Amino acid sequence: MTTPGAEEAREKLLVNLTPELRRDLRIRAAEHGLNMQDAATSAISLWLETPNVPEVETRGAKSWGVYLPAGGPARFTQECETRGITKVQGMAQAITLWLDAHPSPTERRVSQPVKRILVGNQKGGVGKTFVASGLAQAMAEAGLRVLLVDFDPQGHLTSRLQIPGLPDGADSLLKHMLGEADKHLARSLVALPHERFGGRLHVLPASKDAFLMDAKLALLQVGRDTCLARALGPLEDSYDVIVLDGPPNLGLAIDLAINYVQRRPGELIDHSGILMPVWSDRSSFDAYEMLNEQIMTHCRMTGAVVDQLGFVVNAYDSRKGVVTRSFYDGWNELTTPGVLATLKDAIEGREASDYQVPLLEHAPESQQAEVMRALAKELAA
Ligand SMILES: Nc1ncnc2c1ncn2[C@@H]1O[C@H](COP(=O)(O)OP(=O)(O)O)[C@@H](O)[C@H]1O
Ligand SMILES: [Mg+2]
Repeated sequence: MTTPGAEEAREKLLVNLTPELRRDLRIRAAEHGLNMQDAATSAISLWLETPNVPEVETRGAKSWGVYLPAGGPARFTQECETRGITKVQGMAQAITLWLDAHPSPTERRVSQPVKRILVGNQKGGVGKTFVASGLAQAMAEAGLRVLLVDFDPQGHLTSRLQIPGLPDGADSLLKHMLGEADKHLARSLVALPHERFGGRLHVLPASKDAFLMDAKLALLQVGRDTCLARALGPLEDSYDVIVLDGPPNLGLAIDLAINYVQRRPGELIDHSGILMPVWSDRSSFDAYEMLNEQIMTHCRMTGAVVDQLGFVVNAYDSRKGVVTRSFYDGWNELTTPGVLATLKDAIEGREASDYQVPLLEHAPESQQAEVMRALAKELAA
């Protein structure tokens, strides 16, 4: 969720909300061509006009933040007091009312550009590749046409899906970014063969020359900022979603990826953006501070708007003790962006990587697979 600009004069309302209602609101809002904030504003207006709203289940509510027009949070809080209910209950009622009043349309109201998701965090080993791959698998399983780009020169994504890297001299992504390729980039793609993906999940494998990306691109005099968009552009019409598995550093490559997922004219808030796998520990907070700074600097220098879609707290185990739990609470309290999913450290994930089999193929019934599906559903809206 992006912090809106000051010109919009909005105020933040902090309130707890169940993950189910948050997800439904996000999906339904997108279906109606609205962003979450406008949907929440409309929900609260509806609730203010509706007396005697029935009570709604709020168990499992987690902190959530939304920006409302100036005065909105105070008015909402006041009305909750008048009605003698908590803010959690008030918000749950408002959103439930709004969902009932706005059923899923059969046709989308606005056509949107291809959804572009960078799974990014400069910290290595936090689960970028695991999340990028699982998310792409779940989206393809759900019927979307997905392109998964191995944007880490180490090529872990490529090898974990048992895909051969591009041979030396092939028309790699870097060659396309440099404008030196001869053939269409589609010629470099590999489709995953598993039936559950229905031929809809394609991978752009890593190639060894990606290690030279920063050095080669530094020599590019013109059009460096947009070279990734130029390279991937010819593929965009063939996909619903493009997922980039980000590199483990804050170099030029991540800057180009940030640039690629920026919000385009007419694109809804949180349609594209950055998804950040993190751990419940201090170094993950430090890493996020640096990543956030890089995103902000990028936006300041280029005028781009980049949506931070949210965090995936990975490898979480509450038994690891009070410190782990308190960092977990810390991620949840950030609220903008919020925690979209929590993944446990589970054997299925490790096995899938080591056996080089997609997670949803290796352990389709696992909890991790289910989390990936829920995440895909939320982000696909
Ligand atoms: N939730 C998880 N459960 C089990 N294994 C995981 C989980 N998340 C990541 N892994 C494994 O941990 C290792 C590091 O994760 P990876 O996705 O490669 O991190 P990154 O891409 O950020 O460097 C990989 O072997 C991966 O399969
Ligand atoms: Mg990786």
